[in-house]
Amino acid sequence: MNKFLVSTKIYSSINSLDVLKRFQGKKIWVVCDSFLAKSPAYTRLEGLLAPQNEVHLYSDITPDPSIAIVVTGIAQFNAVAPDIVIGFGGGSAIDAAKAIVFFARQQGQDIETCIAIPTTSGTGSEVTSATVISDPDKGIKYPIFEDSIYPDIAILDPSLVVTVPPAITANTGMDVLTHALEAYVSTGANDFTDALAEKAVQLVFRYLPTACVKGDCLQTRSKMHNASAMAGMAFSQAGLGLNHAIAHQLGGQFHIAHGLANSLLLPHVIEYNAKTNPRALKRYARMAKVCQFSAQGADDMAALHQLMNHVRQLQKQISIPTALHALNITDRQVHDCMPEIIRAAQADSTLKTNPCPIADQDIARIVEAIL
Ligand SMILES: NC(=O)c1ccc[n+]([C@@H]2O[C@H](COP(=O)([O-])OP(=O)(O)OC[C@H]3O[C@@H](n4cnc5c(N)ncnc54)[C@H](O)[C@@H]3O)[C@@H](O)[C@H]2O)c1
Ligand SMILES: [Zn+2]
Repeated sequence: MNKFLVSTKIYSSINSLDVLKRFQGKKIWVVCDSFLAKSPAYTRLEGLLAPQNEVHLYSDITPDPSIAIVVTGIAQFNAVAPDIVIGFGGGSAIDAAKAIVFFARQQGQDIETCIAIPTTSGTGSEVTSATVISDPDKGIKYPIFEDSIYPDIAILDPSLVVTVPPAITANTGMDVLTHALEAYVSTGANDFTDALAEKAVQLVFRYLPTACVKGDCLQTRSKMHNASAMAGMAFSQAGLGLNHAIAHQLGGQFHIAHGLANSLLLPHVIEYNAKTNPRALKRYARMAKVCQFSAQGADDMAALHQLMNHVRQLQKQISIPTALHALNITDRQVHDCMPEIIRAAQADSTLKTNPCPIADQDIARIVEAIL
């Protein structure tokens, strides 16, 4: 039996942030990082909230939010007792807000509305049932998937993304592509998630290169913002896979940006899944045909190669690193952590929906391929 849950109300396009004007007389708690707290985007957000509201700010979020950040956040949440929580920022701020609300609710505190306002086009966290929390001492990232974590409202205003620099645009854009491709070959895929994944992949190939070089183009940013949410809806229902299971460990061990970790692994994971699982090969081939990278009548292997060529070409176009050496991570560092990377990747909940299981030595081979 398939389930498709759409519980987040989505407002999109330029000036969709104006929807905030409708809240009156509420206690509003905004969760963001220190960069965004000082940005003109925050001033704009605050300006849209009617003066009858009481606005509080928690701006201590750091990339890959840790357990400590969430615990401090819960204490602040309890002190404020907000009606509305706004997660404002990239996936890190939105995940932190979602996690704080999730744990606070478990302790019996409730809120009226959880709002997610993304300022990167990448994680899709604004429409997912997921939050990812890090344990920096153990070098592990823990994804939590719970239906109660869906934000009530997502606001996709592309004007909030125009300030994202090219490297972060590239990293986050490759996260979108990885979400959509993992959802497409996942064991949980269905017609609904396929439709979203196909559209998201098409939009990424078409608009990500322009978003990296012409970041102020609102139409391009809007397409990538929508692609991010579509890929988020797809994977939130269908699940992810091996790519994220290993990427979470690379992020936890070496503090590599999440989208970059996914991008490094993507061609190798596609190759592994396609050669190990005939259904995955068929699905990648179908995606190549949907994107018109390959003729309808082409055989699956030829179509797969076209998809992989286009992924590598895209990586070149957006100048994203394709090896750990380029990030000053040495073979020695990787080999020292390899047993832990393998153990934690096998235990990562995202691996459950990969099209096929993977042996420890194959995880090691994939990680060695990106040295
Ligand atoms: N919940 C989910 O469904 C889900 C899915 C995938 C990833 N994640 C998690 O999300 C996190 C990554 O999120 P991310 O890739 O959006 O990065 P991020 O939130 O860590 O932000 C990256 C950087 O971009 C900056 N930034 C954000 N918006 C900006 C703007 N408009 N202009 C300029 N700079 C801006 C931030 O200040 C930060 O320094 C990771 O912890 C990852 O594990 C969550
Ligand atoms: Zn991701």
